[in-house]
Amino acid sequence: DKGEFKHYMLKEIYEQPDAVARTIEMAIDNGVTSKLREDFLQRHETQLAGIRNIQVIACGTSYHAGMVAKYWFENLTRLPCSVEVASEFRYRNPVVVDNSLVICISQSGETADTLSALRDTQKQTPVGLVSLALCNVPTSSLVRETDIFLPTLAGPEIGVASTKAFTTQLAALMLLVLKIGVTQSRIDNERLTTLLGELQKLPGQLFASLHLDAAIKTMSESFEDKKSCLFLGRGLQFPIALEGALKLKEISYIHAEGYAAGELKHGPLALVDKDMPIVVLAPKDSMFDKLKANMQEVHARHGELFIFASESSKMVAEDRMHVVYVPDVCETLAPIVYSVPVQLLSYHVAVMRGTDVDQPRNLAKSVTVE
Ligand code: M6R
Repeated sequence: DKGEFKHYMLKEIYEQPDAVARTIEMAIDNGVTSKLREDFLQRHETQLAGIRNIQVIACGTSYHAGMVAKYWFENLTRLPCSVEVASEFRYRNPVVVDNSLVICISQSGETADTLSALRDTQKQTPVGLVSLALCNVPTSSLVRETDIFLPTLAGPEIGVASTKAFTTQLAALMLLVLKIGVTQSRIDNERLTTLLGELQKLPGQLFASLHLDAAIKTMSESFEDKKSCLFLGRGLQFPIALEGALKLKEISYIHAEGYAAGELKHGPLALVDKDMPIVVLAPKDSMFDKLKANMQEVHARHGELFIFASESSKMVAEDRMHVVYVPDVCETLAPIVYSVPVQLLSYHVAVMRGTDVDQPRNLAKSVTVE
């Protein structure tokens, strides 16, 4: 039931504060910032203690969640982490090293390529292999075939475009990073306390970001006749740029590409002219000054900038620049909050162009054949 919403996708975007809150509560008791809940993945502590390497396998939006997790794992625990789309991983005879944790991320748990890639890693029988399903469907094949099940408590996702599944995947991945960090003493108490506190603020920040809806709807009017669009981000926002581009092409049928902003000069800058909208994910983080230089590069080539910036950055919009201010959020968790504006942008562009938002042409919710 869509209730008061015109589409399932919009309803699911609005469900994110609650869905993320439920997911976080698996591991954190309200108000507690000193430790994770004792029962969180407790049965699997021995398995998690032994892993020395992480391999993430997924498709589409779930792959983008894995890309964010790579930054988190390597930064916070210093465990090496590789991420690959399942359709490539399964056909290139990859090396699965001993003591690997293979994380399969999938909303449905039935994606053919992801399942097949998982089975391939199991066939290699490396010593100490542990497999984990990060999944929204407890009864799925993926959950049945893995050692550990980490649920996303998003509730059923009906819209083909993944929204609340993505943000709950990110929240659950952060919990997993913390669990492994604590189990292997790879994260100090101060950092843990800070992140647990920040995680508890997330539902409120997501709720506040929904208030940007009207401003983003206005912004979306500039995209109606566009043929192509670039999404830029750096660091933790690079995967969100990819996700924003995927969302836009999937439901509005406008060609879009996500790029690491530092790659502009290596090719995509040649595309930029006055007809090219460029969406920039620009929180005030450690990459902000570098990103500002990238924005100047496209602005100087007459590109039209659509910037999602931190409230506190007080960035002033110049000519051919539109700024929407996103609530301030700590750098580590910013990709979760910045997912909302890119979802809302693609939603409004699609509605304006009159596409079938919940069931875009040629796509299925669950890709059970390769
Ligand atoms: O069910 P899964 O998470 O395994 O699905 C993977 C992709 O098919 C999925 O994320 C797809 O990219 C979404 N429709 C994007 O919105």
